[in-house]
Amino acid sequence: MKAITIILFAAILVVSGCKTKPDATSALSEITWGKEGDKVITLFTLTNKNGMEVKITNFGAVINSIVVPDRNGKMENIVLGFDSLKSYQGTHPYFGSLVGRYGNRIALGKFSLNSNNYTLAVNNGLNHLHGGIKGFNKQVFSIDTAYSTADSSVVGLSYLSPDMEEGYPGNLTVKVNYVLTNNNEIRIEYEAETDKPTVLNITNHSYFNLTGGKENILNHELVLLADSITPTDSTLIPTGILAPVAGTPFDFTVAHKIGERIDQVPGGYDINYKLRNKTGQFVQVAEVYEPVSGRVLQAYTTEPGVQFYTGNFLDGSLTGFNGTKYEKHYGFCLEAQHFPDSPNKPQFPSVVLNPGEKYTQLTVYKFSVK
Ligand code: BGC
Repeated sequence: MKAITIILFAAILVVSGCKTKPDATSALSEITWGKEGDKVITLFTLTNKNGMEVKITNFGAVINSIVVPDRNGKMENIVLGFDSLKSYQGTHPYFGSLVGRYGNRIALGKFSLNSNNYTLAVNNGLNHLHGGIKGFNKQVFSIDTAYSTADSSVVGLSYLSPDMEEGYPGNLTVKVNYVLTNNNEIRIEYEAETDKPTVLNITNHSYFNLTGGKENILNHELVLLADSITPTDSTLIPTGILAPVAGTPFDFTVAHKIGERIDQVPGGYDINYKLRNKTGQFVQVAEVYEPVSGRVLQAYTTEPGVQFYTGNFLDGSLTGFNGTKYEKHYGFCLEAQHFPDSPNKPQFPSVVLNPGEKYTQLTVYKFSVK
């Protein structure tokens, strides 16, 4: 009789366990993902009370995945990336990475600052791109904090970039906090300090695909709150002028499908937009709506620009989550940043960081449905 009671009790517990939704709250867990040399790499999983889930690793401070609901509550990952650390250690176009020291290009890998000439690693034709041969995306970040409260989960990472790394002056300390809130926002808070005058332009290089990776991003509808772009030469270095977007296929001040006019833009969109804020002022950058899933992404930043890139160089040679081949235009990026080649363009907002100053940036990606 006693045994039967216990079995019955256990059965009731199992059944009620299946039915009862556990108390939803923010949570954080971690696993050892692998190693880079002798350094252990961790993969964190942050969840919020709505079940939104973000995975972050200290290798390259990469955002590995972002799982959000569609309008029917179906949870899917909406960024391009890989299941294994090994794939991030190999060659890939900066999926989810923290890019630095300089997001985008510096012409011929050269600049001068306070009458000193600097030569950077060149890794994109004749130019320097995204921090050089071994940028922040390939560095192991220290784990400073990882915790969860009722309202949010936080992972704080940092990296000390030594003087002259990839050619950049100054010992530079970079810190990033990734915060997942219960408002379905990922807040990316950056800070940096240097011990010599240097230049700095860090960004996150997530490739979004709000369909959950089912098709390319050409049917996504985009509003980009920017009135001008920095046109480039054939090597994607800005010419130095600002060009109004009005009347051109670059005008997204009202919603357009990304694919609507992309044929008029050779190769696809890969261009820096000047935002409407004063540098440092936190404003909305963009809203992207994917009509089938109903998912919406809103981007906000304190940066003066955003690089809108439509995955033009993806060519199907990389296989990511769920065995998906990432073909051309399979993801789009909204990289909050200063303008490309600013160290050589005095007319652009300054990217100089001096000893005693603190670099700060806040960028937020917020998810919802319509
Ligand atoms: C650049 C592209 C580049 C891509 C991947 C983007 O930020 O604007 O030109 O191909 O990153 O590296």
